[in-house]
Amino acid sequence: MRLVNRCRCLAVVGTLAGGLLAMPLAQAQGAVPLAERLPLCAGCHGQDGNSVVPENPKLSGLDAEYLVRQLEDFKSGKRKSPIMSGIIPMVDDKEFKALGEYFSGQKPAPGKAVDAKLAAQGKEIFDEGIVGTAVPACSGCHNDDGSGSEKYPRVAGQNVAYVVQQLLNFKSGERANDSKALMQAVAKRMNEKEIRAVAEYVATLTGGEQ
Ligand code: HEC
Ligand code: HEC
Repeated sequence: MRLVNRCRCLAVVGTLAGGLLAMPLAQAQGAVPLAERLPLCAGCHGQDGNSVVPENPKLSGLDAEYLVRQLEDFKSGKRKSPIMSGIIPMVDDKEFKALGEYFSGQKPAPGKAVDAKLAAQGKEIFDEGIVGTAVPACSGCHNDDGSGSEKYPRVAGQNVAYVVQQLLNFKSGERANDSKALMQAVAKRMNEKEIRAVAEYVATLTGGEQ
């Protein structure tokens, strides 16, 4: 089941395609400077990486190497996405580092839960895990405040719908680019209700910023 709001995504892609057709061909090929590339990303992720579309991830404040690795994985097909797989062929590999560093350097905007009651249940899962089904505490890898590290991505303040979708994708194996399948092992032990609850809580974390 995909939770992506197709109408909204299609509208964005439609606008994008229009923009690209208007672009001189030379600019659509080879590496282009960051300032010329950013408008393509900003349409979906926000100019400052704080995507307001819930299905699109915030990129602000994520580790630069993590971001570059995701772009490489979209390019090679190791990470699949109906949206990013269509975007990434337009971007030269040489641009990945600058894009990763730019979004990593942007200040993350605070996130918010859609359902505060569920978020309270999610806090327990995040901090303690789920004993009965051997789900480890998320905080063990992503830190108590969700700030993450170079190895384990920042999750603090991330959009609820995006986090739900990623956890479902790890659970089904649709996303399998995580090192040693660590995240798949976690998500496979969770049911959809637990996934929703923990995603709500993740959105309320600040990563120690605010
Ligand atoms: C049409 C909308 C759209 C455009 C344009 C777009 N993205 Fe994305 N991006 C998405 C969506 C949706 C996802 C989630 C993919 C998934 O389902 O796993 C995503 C995921 C990502 C991720 C993974 C983030 C994470 O937390 O793992 C990175 C990095 C990324 N995009 C960078 C970019 C960059 C850089 C550009 C510009 C060159 C760009 N995107 C353009 C929609 C878009
Ligand atoms: C054993 C370590 C570990 C534990 C425990 C763990 N994670 Fe992860 N998590 C990872 C790794 C590794 C990745 C993938 C990194 C990559 O793709 O390079 C990841 C990725 C993620 C992502 C995707 C981030 C993005 O921007 O796309 C989310 C969301 C996430 N984890 C949430 C959670 C939640 C919620 C829990 C608790 C239920 C949890 N994780 C427990 C290691 C862990």
